[in-house]
Amino acid sequence: MHIVNRISIKILIIMLTASILWSCDRQKNMRGYDFIPDMVYSQAYETYSTNPNFKDSVTMRVPVNGTVPIGYLPFRYTLDSLSRVKAGNELVIPFLPTDDVLARGKLIFTTFCIGCHGVLGKGDGQLYSSGLYPLKPRDISASPTAKLKDGQIYHTITLGFGSMMPHGAQIRPEDRWKLVLYVRELQKQAQVARDTITGGKAK
Ligand code: HEC
Repeated sequence: MHIVNRISIKILIIMLTASILWSCDRQKNMRGYDFIPDMVYSQAYETYSTNPNFKDSVTMRVPVNGTVPIGYLPFRYTLDSLSRVKAGNELVIPFLPTDDVLARGKLIFTTFCIGCHGVLGKGDGQLYSSGLYPLKPRDISASPTAKLKDGQIYHTITLGFGSMMPHGAQIRPEDRWKLVLYVRELQKQAQVARDTITGGKAK
């Protein structure tokens, strides 16, 4: 009786070891058996894949009408001169031209505008002077641009102007305002340069 017991314990240990070793599967891609899978298999749709759950079959949804993402302000203007004048009258620049703000404005200008408008904003950027871009960019360091209101320049950067493309999708709202202040700085510098030449009589 005693011996039988010992043998059965040995068999039990062997079986246990065998089952443990058996469960160490070398095929890492095989998950084994699912026991209550719950939400292991999610029905995920790719951004641009069709989607049977929506009437229009589009997976990537547009924001609900009238909603604004956190951190964004609505910009209710259109690409026409009347709307630009309206933006000039209504929008107030939310920054002061401190060193930090101007440094940021310069960085954004150097990244997005310098290619066409040039280092000093005179419309002589590399893209134009090399002949790659055929349309003469405006000299934004002088009038008539210097006479525009802050909101009109902001409108121009956001929605574009004439043959200039919009930059609203590339540049954040706060950076667009800092850019406006940097454009003002370029205009001030240009004025100083003109005054130096004419002895203060240039307008
Ligand atoms: C691909 C070239 C190009 C780039 C990049 C570009 N602009 Fe322009 N910009 C132009 C051209 C061309 C005009 C003149 C458009 C016209 O008269 O139809 C212009 C006009 C303007 C005006 C003049 C509006 C007015 O009524 O006097 C402003 C201000 C301006 N750009 C600012 C910027 C700023 C700031 C950036 C950087 C975000 C920028 N532009 C980037 C080509 C460019």
